[in-house]
Amino acid sequence: MEEKEWNKLASKYHEEIVSPFYGSVKNPLIKELRKIKGKKKRSVAEFGCGLFYLMEELKDFKKVHASDFAENMVKKAKKKNKYKHISIKREDMRKILYKDAFDIIISVNALLMPSLPDIKQSITNLHKALKEKGTLFLILPSMEAVLYHGLLILDNELKVKQKGAVKKAKQRFENSKYDLFLGLYKEGEEHQKFYYKHEIQYFLKKAGFTDISFEKVLYPWDKNASDYEPFPGEEQIWDWFVKATK
Ligand SMILES: C[S@@+](CC[C@H](N)C(=O)[O-])C[C@H]1O[C@@H](n2cnc3c(N)ncnc32)[C@H](O)[C@@H]1O
Repeated sequence: MEEKEWNKLASKYHEEIVSPFYGSVKNPLIKELRKIKGKKKRSVAEFGCGLFYLMEELKDFKKVHASDFAENMVKKAKKKNKYKHISIKREDMRKILYKDAFDIIISVNALLMPSLPDIKQSITNLHKALKEKGTLFLILPSMEAVLYHGLLILDNELKVKQKGAVKKAKQRFENSKYDLFLGLYKEGEEHQKFYYKHEIQYFLKKAGFTDISFEKVLYPWDKNASDYEPFPGEEQIWDWFVKATK
């Protein structure tokens, strides 16, 4: 989605967006941020901050920078901000030019652009913006989780009737809206990137990151927390939580 679409979403964010900061989502980012020592000496940046739900978690850092390319998101985040050492501005991750500027960089479900060159450019920009030995935290939508959900749907159809189960499951899965090669979900003009783990590893390594590790952000089977058709009792759906070092 481009800036225009994100601008529209700023006013109905909670209804439209699945977020790792709502309800009983198990989000490893929070635990990682709380573990960081010496916050008073460190700087942190969140790129693609949206309404800046991380504000309170980040307020103890020496310097906090948050940005988003959608004007309406920035306006709302600025209105909410009550701290002098937190600066919020409008900028596009694909075009930022920071060099060795932050100890910690965060981007939560914001590297969603469908273009591979845009993704690579943004990750390179985040790498340049980090200080040497700095830490990157990302949350990215998981393509594996989408496929896992497809499997749950197929198994469910097979239990009803074997004949035609694959066809029905593909319809329920909205198979025609996915490009599984590129990891894209397409609805009309809107295209959104989902990531395979191997892609994340590849992109981060190419940009120069090391010590790349993965955990899952786990979403409960609950319509308030996720868009997925629920399968209570089955393992939960997830986003990728990624930690890496410069
Ligand atoms: C799903 S929201 C997540 C917002 C926030 N990180 C959170 O988790 O609550 C994605 C955000 O990324 C922003 N975004 C998308 N592409 C961007 C880009 N190229 N540069 C900066 N922000 C971008 C959107 O405007 C939107 O606010």
